[in-house]
Amino acid sequence: MSEKIFIFDTTLRDGEQVPGCQLNTEEKVVVARQLEALGVDIIEAGFPVSSPGDFQSVVAISKAVTEPVICALTRAVERDIEVAAEALQHARRKRIHTGIGASDYHIKYKFNSTREEILERAEAAVRFARRFVDEVEFYAEDAGRADNEFLARMIERVIAAGATVVNIPDTTGYCLPEMYGAKIRYLVEHVPNIDKAIISCHCHNDLGMATANTIAGIMNGARQVEVTINGIGERAGNTSLEEVAMILKTHKHLGFHTGIQSQKIYAVSQLVSRMMRMPVQPNKAIVGRNAFAHSSGIHQDGVLKHRENYEIIAPEDVGIPQSSIILTARSGKAALNHHLRRLGYQLDRKALEQAYAKFLLLADGKKDITDDDLREMMEGSQARISKATIRRLQILCGKPLHPVATVEIEYNGLVYRASETGNGPVNAAYRAVDRILNKKIHLEEYLVQSITNGSYDTAQVHVRVEHDGRTYNGFGLDTDIVVASVKAYLNALHLAPVWDDLHGAVNGRNDRIPASLTEFVGAETHQTH
Ligand code: KIV
Ligand code: ZN
Repeated sequence: MSEKIFIFDTTLRDGEQVPGCQLNTEEKVVVARQLEALGVDIIEAGFPVSSPGDFQSVVAISKAVTEPVICALTRAVERDIEVAAEALQHARRKRIHTGIGASDYHIKYKFNSTREEILERAEAAVRFARRFVDEVEFYAEDAGRADNEFLARMIERVIAAGATVVNIPDTTGYCLPEMYGAKIRYLVEHVPNIDKAIISCHCHNDLGMATANTIAGIMNGARQVEVTINGIGERAGNTSLEEVAMILKTHKHLGFHTGIQSQKIYAVSQLVSRMMRMPVQPNKAIVGRNAFAHSSGIHQDGVLKHRENYEIIAPEDVGIPQSSIILTARSGKAALNHHLRRLGYQLDRKALEQAYAKFLLLADGKKDITDDDLREMMEGSQARISKATIRRLQILCGKPLHPVATVEIEYNGLVYRASETGNGPVNAAYRAVDRILNKKIHLEEYLVQSITNGSYDTAQVHVRVEHDGRTYNGFGLDTDIVVASVKAYLNALHLAPVWDDLHGAVNGRNDRIPASLTEFVGAETHQTH
């Protein structure tokens, strides 16, 4: 009989710790609802004591989501535990996740403590958390590098104190699969009360071993896995949900299953990527755009003869669209509705009217509309809206010209305009935006991908910018690559403190237009309307 592996999703906690990937409460609720539909068993919704925003997110997710257990992280500190319990008060099913360092590195250099004292604190934290909730998960931080004999003593103590789940994190991503598997086996064999708790794997990907270690953990006795969508997470990331779910589904002979609705994987992967502004690497297993693309002639021929010659998973099994769906500017509302339903969007008549109006605009500039276009169209309204929008963008470029961009953006009811030169059209446009902001923004990363193929395609631009020591990510989509680039730039700057001193208003009180604008666009720029 196949045994169930519980999926503990930490996209909204460990995943969200990536610099520049922070979500607001509304966005976290959207992701949490999708995780629920995907079939995860536990959602780690945040670390409530860490900030009022995290606290609010745990409250909001506890109210919005009913099926999965909602979990909140704490340190082994009473105040953290009290705050977590308060944040979880509306959850139908709740869990507190508390813990402390288990390796000698952490005991000595993080806590400046001793093994005995750490055991006391671990036990006390679990006992305290059990006053508030029935489910308490204990994490032995840096268990990957901890001494197994000491770790076993710690796990025995916390289970005796009431822990119902024991998490064995490879916090630094140090372990090899054999080591991690042997660690779990050691606990199964040496902790006398281990049958009273579920063992959980929490692996990081610093050596590219997170998924392999997690599978080794399962094969040696763990029955819960801590994962994130797209493997997002600090440094090299966490174990990816889609990889573990599809490994267990593909290798049924291992004798495990999960509650994941695999056909929903791709849609959730795309949602998280867009909302967190973290592009999925093209060759990412399961959800990368090349994961099912066969380019060599031999492979193409083999797949056409018999799919399984070169594919171990059917793309439909993870919800990857097979080909561009035929929706064009001539398609009607019924066709649009059919495709939206297929992608999981249920719209009432009014919402369908609105979606159709947007669809016609989109279809006007694009030959075929793909599933990704539809998702973008739908999620664009839910995703974080940039404070500023592009009103007009005009580029003059080509050889031997100096590229010149004139950018007009609307912010808080005012329109601002500036022009700049650059070493290319995108650089010129970014410099024009910088001029409006009256700031020099540092562009750290610029990535452009096409969503499908061909020159009618939509460009997806991802940027990472730095301002005042903080990093911000942004996404922009458009059939025009420069427009997509400026959208991404404004999207990244959405949360940055750069909106207080704008220059170049052309329809409001502020009509300070930098004199240098005349250099490129002449007297026209000086008009105020
Ligand atoms: O990696 C880790 O050790 C963690 C714990 C807080 C569970 O994320
Ligand atoms: Zn972690």
